[in-house]
Amino acid sequence: MSAAEYVRQNRDRYLDELKDVLRIPSVSTDPKRAGEVRRAAEWVRNRLTRAGCTKTTIYETARHPIVYGEWLGAPGRPTILVYGHYDVQPEDPVELWATPAFTPTVRDGRLYARGACDDKGQFIIHVNAFEAHLAASGTCPVNVKFLIEGEEEIGSPNLEPFISSHKPLLACDAVVVSDTAMFDKKTPSIVHGLRGLSYIQVDVRGTARDLHSGTFGGAVINPAFALAHIIAQLKDARGKVRIPGFYDRVRKLGTRERRAFQKLPHSDATFRKSIGAKVLFGEPGFTTLERIWARPTLEVNGIWGGFTGEGAKTVIPAEAHAKISMRLVPDQRPKEIVAKATAFIKKIAPKSVDVTVQHIHSGDGWLAETDHAALQAASRAVKKAFGKTPVFTREGGSIPVVATFDRVLRVPSVLMGIGLHDDNLHAPNEKIDLDNFFNGNEAAAYLMEELGSGFSKKSPDSRRNS
Ligand code: BES
Ligand code: MN
Ligand code: MN
Repeated sequence: MSAAEYVRQNRDRYLDELKDVLRIPSVSTDPKRAGEVRRAAEWVRNRLTRAGCTKTTIYETARHPIVYGEWLGAPGRPTILVYGHYDVQPEDPVELWATPAFTPTVRDGRLYARGACDDKGQFIIHVNAFEAHLAASGTCPVNVKFLIEGEEEIGSPNLEPFISSHKPLLACDAVVVSDTAMFDKKTPSIVHGLRGLSYIQVDVRGTARDLHSGTFGGAVINPAFALAHIIAQLKDARGKVRIPGFYDRVRKLGTRERRAFQKLPHSDATFRKSIGAKVLFGEPGFTTLERIWARPTLEVNGIWGGFTGEGAKTVIPAEAHAKISMRLVPDQRPKEIVAKATAFIKKIAPKSVDVTVQHIHSGDGWLAETDHAALQAASRAVKKAFGKTPVFTREGGSIPVVATFDRVLRVPSVLMGIGLHDDNLHAPNEKIDLDNFFNGNEAAAYLMEELGSGFSKKSPDSRRNS
């Protein structure tokens, strides 16, 4: 029996096992759920053992554990490192879920649950594929290491130090990640670029305490106004970021890549309708895909202060706050961007308020050449499983550890995602398409075969990231 046949015969069990792990509310940002996060780590470790790993370890960190597993029974063959994350985003707003977030439910060929796509339903395809190879033939075409973390959704604070201090443990010939989306259901894709991220919080303080807006209004600064004034100056009316030097290191988009983007089956009208927007808006001179994939941006993620409850309260708030993130592209440097943004915000801030800028987390963007042998192997594997040659795309989202793998381990990363852009990641009714899940299991099995045979260990790597 081939591994692909084994995968097909074990569909139902693979679905049941995914449901099992989806029942665990491993929300990494919520301190009250640290026990659930640990329970998910233990589930992953047991799953790796059952799949056939000969060694599994749970590494403690300052917060959530890292799960490691390995099977090195194919000496002389390449070694792949499968990365994924078992932590998930919070489920709120809970009232908008059709079925509860941690009660996995199949409807219309999709499995609904928090983490179904991001990332439990994606990293697991490689565990399933590995098990299938061992079960079907007693061996696996590649050596396999699994590194499944529990802090991706909070910026992987403990993973980079772990990678840097465990280089021999993690040594490999290629990294494999499934934590991205396909271009659309009919267009499988391999992702070769991700945006980086710098996340900050701006805190504005005016007076020692909240004030009656009648007794004091008109005579003191209102921090909400001061914050609005700051935010209004971060971008110009056309959507260009106004922070001096923000675009300094942005790598130019080449004509070849621009043409490749244009060939993709993208429609602005369909895209606009799919998100319920009145108009599309962004940096002049770039298409929608260029804006999302190859240009940096700045967004306000949240803004609060003063009275936001029902009814009215006449008050001048003592403080106002905003969460602001900047998506970055190669070769922007997150630390430098944070410094520039901080300096600019302080400079434009009204002098009548105190403004502090906190750095929450940052990660590098990543861009790889598409002609690397590992990416070509992935392309063949996807073709076999999905029946279509995948396109190469970039993503606007961030998986900062991919740049870390590039920099520290110096090997190519293969991003073979099986999500869809309407899978509602981080939102109510997250789901995974079951065709994609089942085909994904097969693609992962083929990927191991392709990397085991058609992938030269000696081939020059595709690093281009600085
Ligand atoms: N899997 C996502 C990244 C992603 C989303 C890639 C959509 C491609 C398409 C990942 O779990 C994520 O949410 N990343 C965060 C960054 C992280 C540092 C919190 C993001 O992109 O906001
Ligand atoms: Mn993810
Ligand atoms: Mn996520």
